[in-house]
Amino acid sequence: MSNTLLKIENLSRHFGGLAAVSELNFHVGEHEILGIIGPNGAGKTTAINLVSGVIRPSGGRVLFDGEDITGLLPHVLARKGLVRTFQSTTVYGSQTVYENAVRGAYLGLYPGFVAAFFNTRRARRLREDTARRVGELLDWLNLSEVAHLQAGSLPYGYQKTLGMVISLAAQPRIVMLDEPVAGLSAEEADHVRDTILKIRARGITVIVIDHNIRFMKGLCDRVMAMNQGHELTTGAPLDVLANPKVIEAYLGRGHAAAHRI
Ligand SMILES: Nc1ncnc2c1ncn2[C@@H]1O[C@H](COP(=O)(O)OP(=O)(O)O)[C@@H](O)[C@H]1O
Ligand SMILES: [Mg+2]
Repeated sequence: MSNTLLKIENLSRHFGGLAAVSELNFHVGEHEILGIIGPNGAGKTTAINLVSGVIRPSGGRVLFDGEDITGLLPHVLARKGLVRTFQSTTVYGSQTVYENAVRGAYLGLYPGFVAAFFNTRRARRLREDTARRVGELLDWLNLSEVAHLQAGSLPYGYQKTLGMVISLAAQPRIVMLDEPVAGLSAEEADHVRDTILKIRARGITVIVIDHNIRFMKGLCDRVMAMNQGHELTTGAPLDVLANPKVIEAYLGRGHAAAHRI
């Protein structure tokens, strides 16, 4: 068993009277891929929004590498190595692939930092380092050839990969992906799965939310199933998917995801 990188203790978030996440406990080992599944409204997105600082918890703690990081802001967390990707908001269609990726590299810096040091030697070195790092990333994920095209002109699958490049450019230790294959074909989903496995092979820890069972089975070391803000069960993907409580949670809602499990 590898070291625990992320530990979530009794995490809760209420919206008015609704407990979107309630007394949630889980951990993620270093270099692990942890999946989160559960019907719509289960609290999956809220859980990673809490961990990544997008929203503040009503209660509980988030420990990253032993440090209490509860309630810190996303850019502070990005600098510490926690980065969350968003479903589609991270890719700017009118920017080139390269410009999008460079923006990711500055995720962990305070707004204004780059501008303030724009003409200094330090800034020049930062820009050169960034350009090299981004170039390597684009190369590594086979996006070099399209680096100078407008991101919006690329097929959707490429944009998903670019979304990952943006997060990786911030040099994270852990990335959190919310439904990375929603809307993709089976072939594109396989490509995203391979990309995430490559990301892990680089030593990066991954939390991934998705409904696509085939995708999750081929990717995750462990899966946590959630329902109504709570953890239902956590374990090996096949065990979790076969768990009657998990099946009931999906079927009980009677929504589209029930047909896919
Ligand atoms: N900003 C918000 N304000 C009010 N309610 C919210 C907000 N975000 C999420 N919720 C509610 O919290 C519950 C969990 O939502 P969410 O975390 O998005 O679920 P999931 O990602 O599993 O589909 C839902 O009932 C949702 O309507
Ligand atoms: Mg969600």
